[in-house]
Amino acid sequence: MSSKKIETALVSAGRDKKFTQGSVNAVIQRASSLVFETVADKKHATANRANGELFYGRRGTLTHFSLQQAMVELEGGAGCALYPCGAAAVSNAVLSFVGTGDHILVAGSAYEPTQDFCEKVLKKLGVSTTYFRADIGAELGSLMQPNTKVVFLESPGSITMEVPDIPAMVKAVRAVSPDVVIMIDNTWAAGILFKALEFDIDISIQAGTKYIVGHSDAMIGTAVSNERCWEQLREHSYLMGQMVDADTAYVASRGLRTMGVRLKQHEESSIRIAKWLSERPEVETVNHPALPGSKGHEFWKRDFTGSCGLFSFILKQRLSKQQLSDYLDHFEHFSMAYSWGGFESLVLANQPEEIQAIRPAETVDFTGTLVRLHIGLENSDDLIADLSAAFERIAAA
Ligand SMILES: Cc1ncc(COP(=O)(O)O)c(C=O)c1O
Repeated sequence: MSSKKIETALVSAGRDKKFTQGSVNAVIQRASSLVFETVADKKHATANRANGELFYGRRGTLTHFSLQQAMVELEGGAGCALYPCGAAAVSNAVLSFVGTGDHILVAGSAYEPTQDFCEKVLKKLGVSTTYFRADIGAELGSLMQPNTKVVFLESPGSITMEVPDIPAMVKAVRAVSPDVVIMIDNTWAAGILFKALEFDIDISIQAGTKYIVGHSDAMIGTAVSNERCWEQLREHSYLMGQMVDADTAYVASRGLRTMGVRLKQHEESSIRIAKWLSERPEVETVNHPALPGSKGHEFWKRDFTGSCGLFSFILKQRLSKQQLSDYLDHFEHFSMAYSWGGFESLVLANQPEEIQAIRPAETVDFTGTLVRLHIGLENSDDLIADLSAAFERIAAA
C-alpha cells in the first residue's frame, strides 16, 4: 500500500502513463474486440488476460484497468472486480464462494436487497443463511457451522446505523475457521474511512454508485480482494459475466478525484446537522456513528477515520399518514429518493414496523418514526432551515 496521504492518493491513483496516454485522465477505451497484431501477441495476451493485458472487452480495457489499479491502491489488496452496480457486487462476491449445502452468516442490519438475495436466490440454490444482531461481537463465533463459507458484514447497519465491533467478530470467526471468507459492504465508509482489509476482512465491497460516482448519475459496484480470495473472486465474477462499460468506469475514476473534499464537506455538514437535531425537542435519538451515544460510537471512533453524509434520527412521536405527507412533501432542498452519496440532500422516512421487517435478528427498540437523511453539499444553514420548517409543519398538522 502507498504511504501517500489519502487526499493525494485519491487524486493520483490509477493515473499511470499507460492509461492516460498524454492526458490527465485515463482514456475512455470502448471495446469488445481488441486486435492482436501477431500470433505471438495473441498468445501473450491470452496467457496474461487476467493480469491487465488487453484481451477481450469483457476482461476490461485501459479505462477499467486504471480504475481497478486506483481502487487497489486506495483500499489495499490484490485486485478489484468491477460490477454494473453495488447489488451485483454483493451477490456475485457471495456467489463466488458458496455452493449447494453451504451456509452463510449475514448482518441482520444489512441493506435490505442483500437480505432478499439470501432469501430468494441463495435459498433456491440450497445455501442457508443465519442473520446476526449488530451488537453480537465475539459471540458471532458461536453461530459458525461446519459448512459456513462466508461471513457478510455491513458497517454501519443500513438505516439504523449501528457500528459493530468488527475486530471482535473477525477474531471470533477466524478462531473457528481461519479459511472462512469474510466480506463487508463498505459503502458508507467509501472504502477509505474504514480500511476493511487491514482488519483481516478478505473482500471490501462498495456500491460505487454512491460516493465514488458522487453525482447520482451512474451505477457501479466494486469489490477489492486480498491475495487469498482474488483469483476466485475474479474468475467466478468473470464467468458470471460481470463487467461494466468503459464510460461508467471513467465516470467512477473521475469521481475519485474529488471524493476526498466531498466526503469532508458531507461529514462536516452531517455532524453539524446531527448535533442540531439531537437538541430538538421532537427528536428521541440521533443515529450518527460520529455522535457519542449513537450505537457503536466507541467502535466507530476506534476503527474509522471519518464519517460521511448518511445518518438517521428517530422522532419521539409516530407520524400519522397525514403528518408524514406534510413532513416529506414540502422540503425545499431535501429530495425523496432511495439512493445517497451524491451531491444532493435526500430524505426518507420509515415506521418502526417497516424497520422490524428487515431486522431478522433483533427486536427494534423504538416506537417513533425514523427519518434517514443524506446531507449533501448545500450550505448547512439552508438545510437546517429546511428541517426546521418541516418540524413546524408536523406541529401545525
Ligand atoms: C449499503 C448499500 N449497499 C449496496 C447498495 C446497492 O447499490 P446499487 O444501488 O449500486 O446496486 C446500496 C444502494 O442503496 C446500499 O445503500
